[in-house]
Amino acid sequence: MPKDFDAMENSNQSLNPNIHEVSALRRALLKTGAVLPMLSLSACAGLTFSGEKKLGFKGISASAADRIRVPEGYVTQVLAPWGEAVGIAGNMPAFKEDASNSAEEQAAQMGMHHDGMHFYPLEKNRGLLVQNHEYVDDGLLHPDGMANWNLDKVRKSQAAHGLSVIEIEQKGDRWQMVRPSRYARRVTANTPHRVAGPAAGHALMRTAADPEGKTILGTFNNCASGITPWGTYLSGEENFRFYFAKEGTLTPHEQRWGLTKKAFFGWGPTDARFDVDKNPNEFNRSGWIVELDPYDPTSTPVKRTAMGRAAHEGATVALTKDRRAVVYSGEDARFEYIYKFVSRDAVREGGAKANADLLDHGTLFVARFDADGTGRWLPLTHGQHGLDAARGFADQGEVVIKARQASDHLGGTKMDRPEWLAVDVDTLTVFCSLTNNTARGGAGVPGVDAANPRAKNNMGSVIRWREKGDLDATTFTWDHLVLAGDPANSRAEAKGNIKGDVFPCPDGLCFDKRGVLWIQTDAFASELNKGEFVNMGNNQMLACDPTSGEIRRFLTGPVNCEITGATFSADGCTMFINVQHPGETPAERSDPKAPDRYSTWPHGVKGQRPRSATVVIRKTDGGLIGT
Ligand code: FEO
Ligand code: CA
Ligand code: CA
Ligand code: CA
Repeated sequence: MPKDFDAMENSNQSLNPNIHEVSALRRALLKTGAVLPMLSLSACAGLTFSGEKKLGFKGISASAADRIRVPEGYVTQVLAPWGEAVGIAGNMPAFKEDASNSAEEQAAQMGMHHDGMHFYPLEKNRGLLVQNHEYVDDGLLHPDGMANWNLDKVRKSQAAHGLSVIEIEQKGDRWQMVRPSRYARRVTANTPHRVAGPAAGHALMRTAADPEGKTILGTFNNCASGITPWGTYLSGEENFRFYFAKEGTLTPHEQRWGLTKKAFFGWGPTDARFDVDKNPNEFNRSGWIVELDPYDPTSTPVKRTAMGRAAHEGATVALTKDRRAVVYSGEDARFEYIYKFVSRDAVREGGAKANADLLDHGTLFVARFDADGTGRWLPLTHGQHGLDAARGFADQGEVVIKARQASDHLGGTKMDRPEWLAVDVDTLTVFCSLTNNTARGGAGVPGVDAANPRAKNNMGSVIRWREKGDLDATTFTWDHLVLAGDPANSRAEAKGNIKGDVFPCPDGLCFDKRGVLWIQTDAFASELNKGEFVNMGNNQMLACDPTSGEIRRFLTGPVNCEITGATFSADGCTMFINVQHPGETPAERSDPKAPDRYSTWPHGVKGQRPRSATVVIRKTDGGLIGT
């Protein structure tokens, strides 16, 4: 989001100990388990494959150019930009370049600000692309931007949020949208969602419009995503606090979740759902992980509350050896936490229907990274370790609704904005990007710790941990894969230790089938190409061989975009990524009179609005991406 969002949430004023301190809980836990020896994670093995070199392409230079650049031997194609009709039969409105499409039309078109995304195969050369539309730039979304703000504009903004499902087809070496498609759909900030898990029907989830607390309208600020082994899509509701406002005195609970008097998105004055003075519990109904079955276009999306409420970046799923689901999720806010959910039951045969409640039963944990290179998963379970009524947790529903307060009490480690996670199931190693935290070490906030070792951390890092035994482990060993930055910087905290091409602010992470870790970046538009970022160019995507630690630049994006949303076709020969907010302004919102001020991507036409879009990446010889 714009620079303003670097005034990123910092509502963790809890006094839970830094990892240098030993809490009563830690002493109790240490008594029950031996202290683990430090394990060298740089010896990540198990991802070897017939002597093939993992990074087979020639790295490219950093760039400030307003276009996509990829290595020699690769080609790209733009697919499904903001405003393109998704392909609902009988409802395929054309995009209007002056942004004059109505809210109703927008609800049948690709949303804005493409983010997390997954490919779901269909028969032959077809597949579904399911993706998040994280937020909107109201300066670009309406012909006159924020001027004359009214309910129609709110509705269009809500319609440009949420998820989209499109069908795509490969024709030769190109991909195209299939329209109409029976699968095509949009989920917006007004689509009904079912609530499942321990917070379903909870008193804190009930509103005048939904007295049962089991149906929530909409999902928004959907950031990263996950794919389940049973074929559904998971989406993290991230910075939901920017949509709600409360004029009255904030409760400690509302303060802890960063509620403010004025919302960045101006929905509240015209849509009372977002006015917390009028609807106090509505604020509790966001910040969940949403599950969608893209293969069933009539399915109702579900908010899965057992995985906890958080500013969820995304949700990354892997399986234990006995096939229980393990879902990792970071909370992208300053000094917030990393979570893991372990399902009670094993995944059943029979797809989405057979696993309709799999994510409703299990144990939620928060991570604590200790200074000796070991770590603990602390259970957010009602009745254990003081998570009881006396401390404000009446039941498990209240524990998950107040997951931050529960994690404060347990002593989770306050991280530098955890973003995407990726799991190497062969080595039981989990990677998490910690994008940045420029507040670290400042007045009145936590100082550095072993896992978050840099003050005024504007460059970010990728941390990794190896689970002890299986992915349901309660202990792990950890280190950093890389501290991002540029060795040419004079400030020690901004240098990093990258083996290879320099980059700032890792965000998107994913493994391909060969075990290459793809890293996507999201540095602020206000910081790119100057100061400590001067040598690192526009936001980009790099490939990392996690065995050697080598990192090589694969793609550079257009001006002021972020690169996000990596996924692959079933054969691994097409990679799909998203270019989010090309031409983002360092100010709050774009000027509708000068929408092309920073970028004209992807069309290259002066005067027209830049548009977030999916990008198809292929090798000219048709081979595997990255070879
Ligand atoms: Fe939506 Fe944390 O990026
Ligand atoms: Ca961004
Ligand atoms: Ca992100
Ligand atoms: Ca980000």
